[in-house]
Amino acid sequence: MLSRPTAAALLLTLRSANALVLPDGVGRLPALGWNSWNAYGCDVDETKIVTAANKLNSTGLKDLGYQYVNIDDCWSVKSGRDSVTNRIIPNPDTFPSGINGTAQQVHDLGLKIGIYSSAGYQTCAGYPASLGYETIDAQTFADWGIDYLKYDNCNYPSEWDDQYNACIPDSDYPGVNPNGTCPDLTNPAPAGYDWSMSNTTKRFNAMRDALASVQDQRVILYSLCEWGNADVPSWGNGTGNSWRVTGDINATWDRITAIANMNAHELSSVDFWGHNDPDMLEVGNGNLTIEENRAHFALWAIMKSPLIIGTDLSTIPDTHLFILKNADLIAFNQDPIIGKPALPYKDGYNNGTYNPHYPPEYWSGATSHGWNLVLLFNSENVAASRTAVWSEIPQLSGHDSKYRVEDVWTGKDLGCVHKEYTAQLEAHDVAVLKVTGTC
Ligand SMILES: *[C@@H]1O[C@H](CO)[C@@H](O)[C@H](O)[C@H]1NC(C)=O
Ligand SMILES: *[C@@H]1O[C@H](CO)[C@@H](O)[C@H](O)[C@H]1NC(C)=O
Ligand SMILES: *[C@@H]1O[C@H](CO)[C@@H](O)[C@H](O)[C@H]1NC(C)=O
Ligand SMILES: *[C@@H]1O[C@H](CO)[C@@H](O)[C@H](O)[C@H]1NC(C)=O
Ligand SMILES: *[C@@H]1O[C@H](CO)[C@@H](O)[C@H](O)[C@H]1NC(C)=O
Ligand SMILES: *[C@@H]1O[C@H](CO)[C@@H](O)[C@H](O)[C@H]1NC(C)=O
Ligand SMILES: *[C@@H]1O[C@H](CO)[C@@H](O)[C@H](O)[C@H]1NC(C)=O
Ligand SMILES: *[C@@H]1O[C@H](CO)[C@@H](O)[C@H](O)[C@H]1NC(C)=O
Repeated sequence: MLSRPTAAALLLTLRSANALVLPDGVGRLPALGWNSWNAYGCDVDETKIVTAANKLNSTGLKDLGYQYVNIDDCWSVKSGRDSVTNRIIPNPDTFPSGINGTAQQVHDLGLKIGIYSSAGYQTCAGYPASLGYETIDAQTFADWGIDYLKYDNCNYPSEWDDQYNACIPDSDYPGVNPNGTCPDLTNPAPAGYDWSMSNTTKRFNAMRDALASVQDQRVILYSLCEWGNADVPSWGNGTGNSWRVTGDINATWDRITAIANMNAHELSSVDFWGHNDPDMLEVGNGNLTIEENRAHFALWAIMKSPLIIGTDLSTIPDTHLFILKNADLIAFNQDPIIGKPALPYKDGYNNGTYNPHYPPEYWSGATSHGWNLVLLFNSENVAASRTAVWSEIPQLSGHDSKYRVEDVWTGKDLGCVHKEYTAQLEAHDVAVLKVTGTC
């Protein structure tokens, strides 16, 4: 016999529908902060976390809004949970003050702290993870003063597999065509399939509900890291504050363009309270040119992605810090009135194709700050010019043919520009313009 839902279950259902509209505006805008993974991988400890927090403060990044200091994988005792409480145990060698003591040092700087787990039996690096322990872990995180949870997708048992496979248009995955379709996908879902009923969704909803149950004690931003599986853009907004849309980033130009291209085609799921996550920033890492660093940051910012720095802030060169500190791009990303991201208004060198090497090049978006944003991107491997024609830009067309233009990188007022503006761009560089109608 089916029992009638209890009042508590009903309440939870009602609450879940709005679960990610968290108190105090937490998760309404893309998260800004830092995470240990791209800088240190598994080699993380309390000193590195507290150093990063101090650097966020002393570099002025904190004043610009970067607030989360996130510990990624490898923070706990690997062999297992506490045998009495079933809680995950912070590694006493690498985190001698515990996660709570580390949290206190981060909070004392006026910053927030994030932690990491997986919707599986182990994390990606093989540490205890939260599947089946969601309530205990949410309570533990709340007790420690955690403000942000990155929740990964590794090591779940096969009984949690999805009934169907979803097409993930990541060129990194097998069976994906250059145009982002998956004709060779085995066992595809029937047309119109509701992925919010999937087992993947259930695994991630279980932690959402556990976090909701400790919300009176601690408001924790919920960042899903399930790599774009199970069509997460279609249901992520009911589950988390952000959701990864692809596999992992790395500090290579090919990977950055592939991810930018994918996310550029999925931006209808981005608005207040829920953001596509094209993965953390590689600014400062690898052998990317300064132009590539600039393009990566600017594209991530205008797509209203979480901007999570992933480099060692004690050695970052000023040239790269300057990129991360661009106040206009941050203002666009954090607009309090307009939740939608910039969108491509024209494709560019890719000639209209879905192309992991050549993402869309012509972008525009509105702000509530009295200017519109226009971004011109040269995806080619050689210097080239790109021209913004006012009449092609949705936010501008039908208005005056003269606009005042300011260069976001130099802050230079380029004056009143008639009809169109042409930027000479090095390979892989971007021009970012503030365009206003006041001429
Ligand atoms: C934060 O940075 C500012 C500016 O560099 C500095 O004056 C202040 O002492 C720092 N705060 C802490 C707690 O270190
Ligand atoms: C962290 O938790 C431990 C164990 O409960 C406790 O002894 C310690 O005082 C706590 N530290 C802080 C800074 O709250
Ligand atoms: C979830 O997993 C169970 C057990 O493996 C399976 O029978 C079921 O079809 C799956 N459900 C969905 C919606 O994929
Ligand atoms: C994508 O490419 C494949 C083969 O390369 C082709 O069969 C398919 O029709 C294309 N789909 C779209 C939507 O362009
Ligand atoms: C970056 O990621 C791509 C796609 O996953 C992979 O093929 C490549 O080897 C990676 N490069 C580095 C340097 O990690
Ligand atoms: C996500 O949910 C929030 C809160 O209900 C809503 O404001 C926002 O518009 C939703 N996003 C999209 C893309 O519908
Ligand atoms: C950077 O370049 C050096 C020297 O060419 C190479 O050894 C290294 O693997 C490169 N690093 C990345 C992340 O591509
Ligand atoms: C787009 O078309 C132009 C002109 O034919 C060509 O030079 C360019 O290589 C094409 N781009 C791509 C990505 O194929």
